[in-house]
Amino acid sequence: MPTFEIGERDFLLDDRPHQVISGALHYFRVHPDLWADRLRKAKLMGLNTIETYVPWNFHSPEPEVFDLSGRRDLGRFLDLVADAGMHAIVRPGPYICAEWDGGGLPAWLSAVEGVGMRRYEPRFMAAVGYYFERLLPVVAERQVTRGGPVLMVQIENEYGAYGDDPAPDRERYLRALVDLTRAQGIEVPLFTCDQADDAMLSRGGLPELHKTATFGSRSTERLATLRRHQPTGPLMCMEFWNGWFDSWGMEHHLAPSEANARDLDELLAAGGSVNLYMFHGGTNFGLTNGANDKGLYRPIATSYDYDAPLAEHGAVTEKYHAMRAVIDKHAPVPDELPEPPAPAPAFDVALTEYLPLGEAAELPAPMRSYDRAPTMDAMRQWSGFALYRTRVRADDAVLVVDEIRDRAVVMLDGEPVGVLDRGTHTRAIALPQRDGLLELLVEDQGRVNYGPRIGEPKGLIGTARTATRELTEWEAAPVALDRAPEFLASRPWRDGSGLGPLAGPVLARGVFDTVAGADHHLRLAGWTKGLAWINGELLGRYWSAGPTGTLYVPGPLLRERGNELVLLELHGAASRKASFVEAPDLGVTAV
Ligand code: GLA
Repeated sequence: MPTFEIGERDFLLDDRPHQVISGALHYFRVHPDLWADRLRKAKLMGLNTIETYVPWNFHSPEPEVFDLSGRRDLGRFLDLVADAGMHAIVRPGPYICAEWDGGGLPAWLSAVEGVGMRRYEPRFMAAVGYYFERLLPVVAERQVTRGGPVLMVQIENEYGAYGDDPAPDRERYLRALVDLTRAQGIEVPLFTCDQADDAMLSRGGLPELHKTATFGSRSTERLATLRRHQPTGPLMCMEFWNGWFDSWGMEHHLAPSEANARDLDELLAAGGSVNLYMFHGGTNFGLTNGANDKGLYRPIATSYDYDAPLAEHGAVTEKYHAMRAVIDKHAPVPDELPEPPAPAPAFDVALTEYLPLGEAAELPAPMRSYDRAPTMDAMRQWSGFALYRTRVRADDAVLVVDEIRDRAVVMLDGEPVGVLDRGTHTRAIALPQRDGLLELLVEDQGRVNYGPRIGEPKGLIGTARTATRELTEWEAAPVALDRAPEFLASRPWRDGSGLGPLAGPVLARGVFDTVAGADHHLRLAGWTKGLAWINGELLGRYWSAGPTGTLYVPGPLLRERGNELVLLELHGAASRKASFVEAPDLGVTAV
């Protein structure tokens, strides 16, 4: 059987020095029918390895569920990596960051009273043990030592950037993760990764584990920093940031190809191994995006294009060619080049039917009564929306909440009166001065994936007050948006023929025929903020705040006849029309 080891100077594959030229490709951000296509394009760029994280909460949305099927079939993904003639690196967390909801940590776990996230704490460690028991056999049987593609497995993720536990506690936690990993039969080398910073590199690893660094420029200097902490063995950049992620309300990030190519050349010429982060970014489908909060809450956009060499819709870019040319100087690159994708079908869709959300009475689960407003976590709603209700009087005049996580459409007797918004620190709103039913439709816009705020609950946090009193006697319930298209299929829709403006919150529906299997780009010009489904699949969030201007619709979701587009619009639309356009629009850039 093949071997893979960390030598005195190099990685050793079957005892021969081996330079890992890897690219990150997250199976959870790509439609499973397109995995093989993306992997082939990685191979044709000259990559010899594919790296993927594993998001724990993607496989385990509820404590009793562990799903490894369909788009969660990590085993099939790794088999396709092997079929494409490449190796694999797996980074199972338990924390992954990755701009993913909660950094992969399940909200059902952070909701457990007293649990210590990313620490040696019995409840946390027991849950990780259960997770590794279910996940790691899939990886173990695909290790290079057993004839599979997997070369290495990561322990934790940039742990040196997290927390202030003293060194013995940190090491105890990392060693416990190593033990849990080894106990599942993982025998290939284990490693840690940290930002190329002395303090982080010294806090994030263990002497017995191989250290790697994360950086996107100044390769020589960063390799020298890493060398101070990893005195022997190969130097590897585990995340070569050749692009960056987008957050709602900010510009679309671009990283110039020439600089990326130059820095990659410097790294490979120095004999370093690399994992391009990302080779292909993909999409934050559904409600899977994370968020940052360093004083200002910034949810991650739906597109995770990342300005990567392979674009979100699988097209090769100028950066692909630039990086392929660099790799060609250092390692064998296949002669063949991928075909450019055909322009996507372009046409308009009329959303001819609609249903005000207030009339979709069965969408919220049955309302329950509470003295004080519960968090979404207390209702066991781990993502999406919840509806809160209580009565107000004319003299209440203003609504003030301790905290809103993350955004609420506020309504009085069904009429929208404004928005509470964490992103702009808006936690007070004037109310029309009359008695009535106050409703808050609260959106969790993505759980924080980096820093001390990971694991915090969502929804209405703390107390809600008015000019005269604290609001009590709440009713609240999760809104079952996962059921929206199926629920709507059985409803008498209102006929919305005519293309005039539409008031939200509202569900709208349109039907269209198209080219089966072709990728599409959905543009919702004139729509404000909400969610979009195609044939029952939640594509993700849209928002006029940008930058993402089109939502990527993977071809496998589309058939020739009778495709259904459903939108949840929270605010209002300028017209009842959606468009499919030829090419993606990822938004305005800073340049
Ligand atoms: C860090 C993390 C990654 C990702 C990148 C930014 O390096 O390790 O998971 O969040 O930052 O894209």
